[in-house]
Amino acid sequence: MKRLIIAIDGPAASGKSTTAKLLAKQLGYLYLDSGAMYRACALAALEQDIAHSDIARLDKLLETIDIRIEYSPDGNKVLLNDIDVTKRIREEDISRLASDISTLGPVREKMVELQRQMGNEGGVIMDGRDIGTVVFPHAELKFFMIASAEERARRRCEELIVKGLEADYETVLKELQERDKQDSTRALAPLKPATDAIEIDTTRLSIEEQVELLYQYVQEKLNKQVK
Ligand code: CDP
Repeated sequence: MKRLIIAIDGPAASGKSTTAKLLAKQLGYLYLDSGAMYRACALAALEQDIAHSDIARLDKLLETIDIRIEYSPDGNKVLLNDIDVTKRIREEDISRLASDISTLGPVREKMVELQRQMGNEGGVIMDGRDIGTVVFPHAELKFFMIASAEERARRRCEELIVKGLEADYETVLKELQERDKQDSTRALAPLKPATDAIEIDTTRLSIEEQVELLYQYVQEKLNKQVK
């Protein structure tokens, strides 16, 4: 049976990664989180104290940076130059810096190249902001996940608390809204649904319902391809 490329895009905390992880498990596909790569890149720039305006040092960083997503049964690991940064990149300072650094052309070019290398063979679910529009415009299935800002902030707070990180609802809500605005209005690869994306509003859906809904679309697509 053909192994599809499935793109899931949408704003922060709309349910992309939770859904993608479970759906990938169900289908025996690889789950790739493109946001984690921008986050790792932002962390590398922070550690080396590189300003976003310093294009020369940024170019050098991009030449040498090694970002890998390593499969592990209890959640993928993100390695930055062989160091496990899975936990660190989820902190809120990195969310903001990732959104800033991802406005830059050289950064996007490098990340898109790596993402295409990882996903080209199919049998992959990749989530992010521009997967259906830029990274894999020919993906067989594209989803655009949305949810109200209040629900997304509530979910992100829950996630942060589970990880033992700080979470103030009003601050999280404000930061999500600011980041969505920056991601949607930037010149390069702004967050927007591909014209052939299926919109999924997860505001009132449980995780199980979300996964089941996407799974049905995948089955439908696979059945059509067999015929
Ligand atoms: O998990 P959350 O939805 O909060 O964010 P993320 O998917 O980890 O992405 C972090 C940031 O990376 C986003 O706010 C975007 O600015 C950027 N990003 C991007 O520009 N393109 C992607 N394909 C994925 C993420």
